[in-house]
This record gives sequence, C-alpha cells and structure tokens, in this order.
Amino acid sequence: MRLDILTLFPNMMTMFFEESILKRAQKKGLVEVVFHDLHDYSLTRYGSVDDYPYGGGAGMVMAVEPIANCIEELQGERDYDDIIYTAPDGELLSQPLANQLSLAENLMVLCGHYKGVDERIREHFITREISIGDYVLTGGELAVAVICDAVVRLVPGVLGDEQSALADSFQDGLVAPPEYTRPPEFRGWKVPEVLLSGNHAKIEQWRMEEALKRTQERRPELLKKREEL
Ligand code: ADE
Repeated sequence: MRLDILTLFPNMMTMFFEESILKRAQKKGLVEVVFHDLHDYSLTRYGSVDDYPYGGGAGMVMAVEPIANCIEELQGERDYDDIIYTAPDGELLSQPLANQLSLAENLMVLCGHYKGVDERIREHFITREISIGDYVLTGGELAVAVICDAVVRLVPGVLGDEQSALADSFQDGLVAPPEYTRPPEFRGWKVPEVLLSGNHAKIEQWRMEEALKRTQERRPELLKKREEL
C-alpha cells in the first residue's frame, strides 16, 4: 500500500510514522508513506497556502490552488483508490471502514486545517471524508495518524501474529475480552483459573462469554447492531 499524505505540517506527522506499527510496516516494505508539504505547491512568492474566507468571518481557509496542484501531480503518477479528507462532518471511522481501506493499493489523504478547505477541493477531488469522532481537533494531522494506524495494522503481513488483528475489539462487533499475563497471582489478585487450564476450547468459550458480557455492560448498542446483521 502507498499512502500519500498532504499536509501543511509534515514535521508534525513524521513522528507517528517513525515508531511502532507504522514504522514496522514501512520497514517490511508493505507500506510506503510519502509526505507532501502543501507549501511547496503554492504559487505565491511567500508560499501562502491559506486566505480569508469570502463573506467574512473568523479564521483562514486552505486555498484551492496548492492542494489542486499537489493532487493533480500525484494523480498523474498513479491511480488512487480514494482521496480522503479528514473533517468532523465526515463518515465516522469504524473497524469495517478500516478493513475496507486496508485493501487499497494507493490512498491519498489530505489533512484539513484552520477553518477547513475551500469547498471546491471537496467537490472536485475528495472521494471520501472521514471523522474520527464527534469533537473538533485543531487540525487533521492527528486524525490522519489515527486513520493510518487503524488501516495499516490490517494490511496483511504487518502484524506478526495474523490472529491478533482478528481478535481486536470491534472486529467481530464485540469489544475484546480481558487479557492477563504472568504472574498467576499478584497481591492475592488471581488470573481466572480457566486461562491456566490449557484447555483451548474452554478458553475460547470463556473469552466469548467475557466479550459478550463486556459488550453488554459497556457498549450495548454494538450487540443490537450485531443482531441486525
Ligand atoms: N478535523 C478536525 N476535527 C476532526 C475530527 N473530529 N475528525 C477528523 N478530522 C478532524
């Protein structure tokens, strides 16, 4: 998978991609991440990338021209499965959406900033708008890091243990069951007996029961959704 990330603040983004899963995916050659600084696509002498909104009002709007220039240059090099824009009014990021995006070959992601982007970019280039939650961030960089993390870990081969992505919370519409590691007893707090039994069928049954119990307690709406499927 190739990820092209269009941003006003590439330095803010790189640290997320130089650690952990995102780093491992790139090292293994499974994912290529390329950052594009929109200042480099500005036609003004000062590298200006934003302007005052027509009609007045507070805040600046990301200008159409640098973004259009950057997108078109990239589109000239390869086809993109999606051109994503991060915005609070987009489709809510979910595990099914992350699964779907993980199958893409080339994704372009535009980080919003300031008051947002000139609407003509959304109309003419963006194929998918994604929000990471019902709150407003200062910029889309954090949202893009979240989306890329959720997607890249699902690309086949990225996680060492293929099972671990399948056992994630939400992957089967349930939250994950509790996990324990050694020691079996700490300050009198014991690991559930069944996990020490070595009986895999019983352990799987216990995990499923715990996942159902937890989902009922914490996210009952997920169980309703599951029943509707
Ligand atoms: N930009 C600002 N807020 C955002 C959000 N909640 N999700 C995605 N992008 C955003």
